[in-house]
Amino acid sequence: MSGKLAGKVAIITGATSGIGKATALLFAEEGAQVVITGRRVELGQRVESEIRQKGVRGVFVQADHSQAGDCSRVVERTLSEFGRVDILFNNAGIVTKGTAETTSDKVWNDTISINITAVWRMCKLVIPVMRAQGGGVIVNNGSDWSVVAGKNAFPYVMSKGAVGLMTKAMALDHARENIRVNAVCPGDTFVDRWLERGYFEASDPVSLEEAIKESSAYIPMGRFGKPEEIAKAVLFLASDDSSFMTGHLLLVDGGNTAQ
Ligand SMILES: NC(=O)c1ccc[n+]([C@@H]2O[C@H](COP(=O)([O-])OP(=O)(O)OC[C@H]3O[C@@H](n4cnc5c(N)ncnc54)[C@H](OP(=O)(O)O)[C@@H]3O)[C@@H](O)[C@H]2O)c1
Repeated sequence: MSGKLAGKVAIITGATSGIGKATALLFAEEGAQVVITGRRVELGQRVESEIRQKGVRGVFVQADHSQAGDCSRVVERTLSEFGRVDILFNNAGIVTKGTAETTSDKVWNDTISINITAVWRMCKLVIPVMRAQGGGVIVNNGSDWSVVAGKNAFPYVMSKGAVGLMTKAMALDHARENIRVNAVCPGDTFVDRWLERGYFEASDPVSLEEAIKESSAYIPMGRFGKPEEIAKAVLFLASDDSSFMTGHLLLVDGGNTAQ
C-alpha cells in the first residue's frame, strides 16, 4: 500500500460521522490502518466497511470516551490488532451552548468529560506506546474557538480553549521524544448532525439551501467548511509533511478568525 500514511496505525475517536469519518476515509486512502470509535454501532460498522473497501484494515470499537475504561479498551484493542499506535486523532466531541449563567452542572460536566478529559486520557494512554516505538503524532480537534471566543457557547468555548493549551503543553513535554502534538482548529463545518438537530428552518430543499447560505454569510469565504477539507488539514498534521511542527493550532476556518 502506498500513500502518505502507508504502514501507519491510526486511532480516530468519534469517527461514526462528520469530520472523524471523513478523516478515517482519507487516512485509509493514504494507506493507514485505522481504528475508529464512537457510540453508534450501525454507523461505526458502516465506516469500518468503507475503510476496508479502500484495501486497508479498519476496526470499529464501540466506545463512550467519557468512560475511562472505554478509552483503555480502545488502546488495548489497537495494540492487540496491530501492535502499535503511530497516530492518534482526538476528534470525539460535543457542542454545548449557553452562558456562564445558564450552563447547568450536567452540561458543564458532560462537556468537560468528552471534550477535555477524554483527550487527556487518550494521550496519557498512547504516549508511553509512542515513546517505546520511538515516536508518534497526536492531533487534537480544537476549534476556531480554541483561539477566540464566541457568544452563547460558554462551556464549549471553555473546553476548546483548554484543548488548545493542552496541545501546546503536551507538545513541549514530549518534543524530545519525537512525539509531535498539534491541533486542527476548524471553523463552522457543515456536518449531517446539524440537519439532524434541526439547525436550519426550511420546508423544502431550495429554502434549506438558502437558509444554509444565509447562516454562513458571516464567514469571509461565504460558506461553511466541508468535513473533507478539515480531514486534509488533519492528514497534513498527521503525516511527515508537517515534520517540524509541534504545538501548533492550525486554523481551517474560511478566514473567520482573520476578521
Ligand atoms: N462541525 C464544526 O463546525 C466543528 C467546528 C470546530 C470543531 N469541531 C469539532 O469536530 C469534532 C467532530 O465533530 P463534528 O462536527 O464532525 O460532529 P459529529 O458528526 O457530531 O461528530 C462527533 C463525533 O464524536 C463522537 N462522540 C461524541 N461524544 C462521544 C462520546 N462520549 N464517546 C465517543 N464518541 C463520541 C460522535 O460519535 P457517536 O455519537 O457515535 O458517539 C461522532 O462520531 C468535535 O470535537 C467538534 O467539537 C466541529
